[in-house]
Amino acid sequence: MNRIKIAVLVSGGGTNLQALIDAQKNGKLHSGELALIVSNKPDAYALERAKRAGLEALAISRADCGGQEGFETSLMEALDSRRIGLIVLAGFMSILSARFTKHYENRIINIHPSLIPSFCGKGFYGLRVHEAALAYGVKVTGATVHYVNEIPDGGKIILQKAVYVQPGDTPEILQRRVMEQAEWLILPEAAELVSAKLLNDKESKT
Ligand code: GAR
Repeated sequence: MNRIKIAVLVSGGGTNLQALIDAQKNGKLHSGELALIVSNKPDAYALERAKRAGLEALAISRADCGGQEGFETSLMEALDSRRIGLIVLAGFMSILSARFTKHYENRIINIHPSLIPSFCGKGFYGLRVHEAALAYGVKVTGATVHYVNEIPDGGKIILQKAVYVQPGDTPEILQRRVMEQAEWLILPEAAELVSAKLLNDKESKT
């Protein structure tokens, strides 16, 4: 069967990458196949997870490429030479330029740890999102998977899942609950949905 080749971009621990690896193993992700993992941080634990799962893993850092433009050019070469059809940002902590996002229009998705449009955009990433949610005092938060365009966290929403804030939550406790109850579920689900759509579009053209 034909499948969409998926690249996953990471920067850190890679628990969302792990959720994608597990979904591929148990057949929940079947319209796309994980083909390449790229980290912009050479020491990211996510690279270890990729290698352990037998996936091709690359580290491409901005410093090695002389800045953002060189980084994106190297990344595009890596993606295009492998005929990647879908790019999943899974804890990827770098904002991509319009040149990059336009080149892969409707082919990049991102997981964000809040219910967009709350606590999103420039400066809202990782633990900071949960710190901001607790500081505001919201009683419900969650996660969002959305398409990526030139506006940070501004692309069309694909899936969202709500998670309750509990009395006594710290940013770390809330982060973990949002991951367990939302992110690790909706990211593989969205990757499958979008892969199936891209596959369908491809087949209807041939
Ligand atoms: C996840 O919570 C992800 O949603 C968030 O960073 C964490 C990465 O964890 N992403 C962002 O904040 C992007 N704006 P992981 O490396 O264990 O998947």
